[in-house]
Amino acid sequence: MNLGKKRIIREVIADAENLSKYDVGETARGLASRISMKDSEILKLNSNENLFIPLDFLRNILRQVIDEIDPRIYPRDEVKDLKDALSKHLSVSPEEIVIGTGSDQIIDLVSRMFLRRGDEALSITPTFVVYERSVKIQGAEYKSVPLKDDFSLDVEALLSSVTPNTRVIFLCSPNNPTANQFSYKDVLSIAENFDGLVVVDEAYADFAGATVLDQSRDLENLIVFRTFSKVFGLAGLRVGYAVANQDLAKIINEKFQMPYPVSLTALRVATKLLEENFKFIESKIFELRAERSRLIDALNGIGGIVAFPSETNFVLFRTVNIDSSVVYRALLERGIIVRDIGQVLKFRNCLRVTVAPAQIMKRFIKELEEVLDEDDA
Ligand SMILES: Cc1ncc(COP(=O)(O)O)c(C=O)c1O
Repeated sequence: MNLGKKRIIREVIADAENLSKYDVGETARGLASRISMKDSEILKLNSNENLFIPLDFLRNILRQVIDEIDPRIYPRDEVKDLKDALSKHLSVSPEEIVIGTGSDQIIDLVSRMFLRRGDEALSITPTFVVYERSVKIQGAEYKSVPLKDDFSLDVEALLSSVTPNTRVIFLCSPNNPTANQFSYKDVLSIAENFDGLVVVDEAYADFAGATVLDQSRDLENLIVFRTFSKVFGLAGLRVGYAVANQDLAKIINEKFQMPYPVSLTALRVATKLLEENFKFIESKIFELRAERSRLIDALNGIGGIVAFPSETNFVLFRTVNIDSSVVYRALLERGIIVRDIGQVLKFRNCLRVTVAPAQIMKRFIKELEEVLDEDDA
């Protein structure tokens, strides 16, 4: 249909012109049918999902949950159960927790809460693209300050970029796609010296070591985002949460969050993973870290590749003599989906790959070597 005869529809279309489309990348099924492979032969390594958590293990928990729930009733007690479980797990109080439909939705929630037309939000380059998206949807301006070349925060530059209109600073630590965690001191110094909200997105913190969670109670402007999508392997169920001081969390929960953002099934599975299976999840984190080291070593062992250190479940690497988009497309033809990141600060030709169990990484490394050999030939 040719939209735009109605004034308000026309105005919304004009607003939408300023927004960019979120590129979710290739899906396994889409690629499989394009290159005539089976879905099961595709290695999907572009979205930092967690393949260390066995599918059978998660399906078993889902089956148990299906037998326990009454889908006719809105989830209320189940939100409380998950908050209680998180409260024990993180040593915070349940009142300090906000539950959402993945951390994406909580990013959107705080943007709605803090930003209007004419406001500004500040973040870093490079980082997770959803911050920019949610800021712009609000009609606010998104500004970003490059990281230093060693991927650390440029605290001075960030603070000096703050204007009277800056209401939110988004930090992602460990950062996607650079895979490093920022210094605790730097993050706190930003929170202490800024009047607006500081979001610290810790989607990958369990793969690292440190956290700024312990400061969320005392700093009125700090909110920490976490997710079940990465460490718990629940990307498909969409559960995320935020931790902030009790008063801020209460306002978000009572005034800004929708009444039932997360499904009963997702809430119950997340609670069970925390309460009954965390030891197992932890063992998978250890496995992942060991595999991550092997992957980085293997990548650095290939001529023309330099891998960066990682505190996440993905690795950023660059191809020194060949365009990353060429490598990306050649891998796609072999059924391997990674993320072509391109330029990262002064580093050209960067790609990002999810760390997966050994068998998968072996095939990835072998095919990557072949792609580079083909290019040499
Ligand atoms: C830094 C970061 N935050 C948040 C998300 C999204 O998490 P969720 O699945 O909880 O929406 C991602 C997903 O890749 C991410 O990289």
